[in-house]
Amino acid sequence: MRLLALQAQNFRNLHQVSLAPSPHATIAVGQNGQGKTNLLEALYFLATLKPLRAGRLAELVRWGTKGARVSGRFLLKGAEREISVEVGGGVRQAFVDGKKASSLEEYFGGVAVVAFTPDDLEVVKGGPEARRTFLDRAVFNRFPAFLKESRDYARALKNRNRLLRDGPAAEAAYLDAYDETLARAGARVYVRRRALMAELAPRAQATFASIGRTVDPAAYGYHPAHLAQEFAEVDEVRLADALLEALAGRRRRDLERGFTSVGPHVDDVAVTLGGRSARAYASQGQQRALVLGWKIAEIENLHAALGFLPLLLLDDVSSELDPERNAYLMGYLAASGAQVFLTTTDASLVRAAAAHDTLWMDVHAGQVAPRLLETGTSEVVRAPGPGEAPAPVGGVGHLVRGHVAEGGEAELRPEDPVSHGEEERAEHRPPGDAHEEAHPRAEQEHHPHREGHLAPAPELAEGHPHGDEGDGQEEPRQPER
Ligand SMILES: Nc1ncnc2c1ncn2[C@@H]1O[C@H](COP(=O)(O)OP(=O)(O)OP(=O)(O)O)[C@@H](O)[C@H]1O
Ligand SMILES: [Mg+2]
Repeated sequence: MRLLALQAQNFRNLHQVSLAPSPHATIAVGQNGQGKTNLLEALYFLATLKPLRAGRLAELVRWGTKGARVSGRFLLKGAEREISVEVGGGVRQAFVDGKKASSLEEYFGGVAVVAFTPDDLEVVKGGPEARRTFLDRAVFNRFPAFLKESRDYARALKNRNRLLRDGPAAEAAYLDAYDETLARAGARVYVRRRALMAELAPRAQATFASIGRTVDPAAYGYHPAHLAQEFAEVDEVRLADALLEALAGRRRRDLERGFTSVGPHVDDVAVTLGGRSARAYASQGQQRALVLGWKIAEIENLHAALGFLPLLLLDDVSSELDPERNAYLMGYLAASGAQVFLTTTDASLVRAAAAHDTLWMDVHAGQVAPRLLETGTSEVVRAPGPGEAPAPVGGVGHLVRGHVAEGGEAELRPEDPVSHGEEERAEHRPPGDAHEEAHPRAEQEHHPHREGHLAPAPELAEGHPHGDEGDGQEEPRQPER
């Protein structure tokens, strides 16, 4: 898979971007607040139909305009295809070769992307919600059908919670029916998460061993809170039965509280180092290595499963990693042959990922243009092997190829009014990390998931090609992030 061309119009602060990326590294350099992450988000949104950061779709549309559009021309299994997505009025529409996509399968058609952002550190540092988001994005990357499946679960959860809020007045017969639907949808989520973890966890553990520089082994595990040890073996029908039983057992309590306290929306991923909680005990550097281990495992896993490398988006990660791990990552990227998009405020941090065909871009006030004076591109092309120290970074400079077809031509007007009036605000993540620590398996009273926000996404396969009303991702994040 290769992205041949990318275009974005009125996407966040990007007025008009049109570029032909390098087959290897494309590096966007710019000061804070210029639009680097927006560029990656445009690409991420195109490839997943989910925003990278936004809590709602309307945030993606450039202020003062009615709609945003992103399109990309991909080379997939020898054939070219163009996919595009438009957002306006809180809905999104997806197109394949200029025609409305008839299904998610048709739209994605083998496009895969893995993003790596500083927020990913939350997977170790943060609460269970951050880890579920992280896990579910990886599950979706591996099994695109999960976009719809997790949405089905979210809808079933929302329905049950609505009924629970009727309290004792809720009809038992209705609740029985809702429990049934929820249990079936939940079992599918379990099966997907389990399959992903079975592939990913051993790889992540091995990658961590080669970069973590610690004798303690890492472990990444997922186990539904209410299930006994046999989770690894039981089939989907029995998982549904077990969840149904757990729902029945909790019904009285759930009715009192008005939300569902058991199911995939409350489970957690355990990340441990030497058998101890990484969140509680691992050092900063170890936490970073644990995340890096997971991400590289995800890339390699997709490679093994799909037969090609996913597109990699790395947002400012070099400033988050220590020099040694950064050199490891850059060396890995250069050697992997993957098509990579990197952003940075400091070009020197990422030069080791660059080669003669690197496309360097300047991002300034929402305009993306070729960077003419880039020097110092490294010739490092080999990733360090397991246990091997990263190769030194440095090398001779190269001039960028001027690959930009068109830069932005109109001025950004950041002072344009933002029309948030018609929208609901994304629910805030509860600040109760300490609470989560004390009760890792307990549902949070005010947790967004109890409202079923697992994965609201367009249901192209169900005849709703216009998507939903704007809560465009599976985990509404805090708007300020
Ligand atoms: N919908 C929107 N319309 C117009 N501008 C927007 C919109 N959403 C965000 N912006 C603007 O985009 C800019 C932020 O862009 P972005 O997050 O890509 O910055 P960045 O280059 O990644 O910066 P940093 O280095 O700090 O991460 C901000 O100035 C913000 O006000
Ligand atoms: Mg940024």
